Amino acid sequence: MELGNENYLMTAKTQYGLEDLLVEELKKLGAGSVEKHNRAVSFVGDKGFMYKANLCLRTALRILKPIKTFNIVNEEGLYREIGKINWEDYMKVDDTLAIDCALNSDFFTHSQFMAQKAKDAIVDQFRDRHGKRPSVDLESPTLRINLHIFKNACTVSLDSSGESLHKRGYRNQTNIAPINEVLAAGMIMLSGWDKRSPLIDPMCGSGTLLIEAAMIANNIPAGYFRKRFGFEAWNDFDSALWDTIFNAAIDKISEESLQITGVELLAETAEMAKQNVLNAKVEDTVQVFNTSFMDFEPWEHIKKTVGKPILIMNPPYGERLESDDLQALYKSIGDTLKKKYAGCEAWIITSNIDAMKSIGLHHTRKISLYNGPLECKFLKFSMYEGTKKIHKIKND
Ligand SMILES: C[S@@+](CC[C@H](N)C(=O)[O-])C[C@H]1O[C@@H](n2cnc3c(N)ncnc32)[C@H](O)[C@@H]1O
Repeated sequence: MELGNENYLMTAKTQYGLEDLLVEELKKLGAGSVEKHNRAVSFVGDKGFMYKANLCLRTALRILKPIKTFNIVNEEGLYREIGKINWEDYMKVDDTLAIDCALNSDFFTHSQFMAQKAKDAIVDQFRDRHGKRPSVDLESPTLRINLHIFKNACTVSLDSSGESLHKRGYRNQTNIAPINEVLAAGMIMLSGWDKRSPLIDPMCGSGTLLIEAAMIANNIPAGYFRKRFGFEAWNDFDSALWDTIFNAAIDKISEESLQITGVELLAETAEMAKQNVLNAKVEDTVQVFNTSFMDFEPWEHIKKTVGKPILIMNPPYGERLESDDLQALYKSIGDTLKKKYAGCEAWIITSNIDAMKSIGLHHTRKISLYNGPLECKFLKFSMYEGTKKIHKIKND
């Protein structure tokens, strides 16, 4: 096991489209040798930095610590190579384990099968030495192991995050289509919001965008509300170091005077958003109104004191709506933006490009993202004061 101050290579995994943000976050946090990959960024840091990365990164899903890379030609090769690792360096026989496997290979096609083979190699090593074996716990294992197989190269990593980092710990109330917290933070960062101007999510659902915005602006670490990180169960866990990292991060929390506003049509969902806002302790910054975006009178509630107000929204994409209703909804979103939000910027994420055409506004930027499995566009619109006409520059 390395000492606390030894540097090693790590990989932060993210979603498609958020890699550049993650590169910036890592550099700002002090990572060395930062390199962008497909849905991942590699970097170098020590154990304390690994703790800090898990606590602070907003656009990372997991932080992996590679322990071995080798080539394999078949499943038996994987079994053999995994069996050469001394697993007692990382876990005890009474601990539990889970193995995730990501495959990008013409030689191997069944990630479940490869994970199973790797698990067999580990438990057989313990059984041979101790006559008993660790058990599997897919939900909450002591040690989460990650296999990444690209062509015939296999990298075995320890997953220092445990549960995915999008599980921030503040959202115990969700509606039917909540956006993932990592994507929400990424959208806010991509929008270029200055962390001071009023921010509005006029279809806020369970409040994810509002809470992520408040956490960004107040420097609340992304993982501040999490109960647990994977590395806390590792046998080299340094609790004094973790306390130091945690306390240094929370010392940076500020209390900015901000106006972050959510609007939600459904009463029950608006209540969920309010509860999540309380869970995240950002109720002084975030207000939620239970009404329709079309009926909401923003300037009765929001003062246009600093900067240009920005709307960031994730409207329904239509999985549960008739096509005509969806076209009508998007048309009225466009009409409302033109009528009530002159002088503001709006960013809208949707997978429904057809419905988006009904909005009747021209976008000035377009970014490709994924919301779960759905390919989406994140589009920017600028509503100019006075003319109610939309700037026509296309910047795709
Ligand atoms: C895709 S969900 C938003 C999810 C949200 N980003 C979250 O993380 O929970 C869309 C939300 O828009 C709400 N909605 C639909 N029509 C609306 C309207 N006219 N005004 C306000 N909210 C509306 C729905 O009730 C739903 O909660």
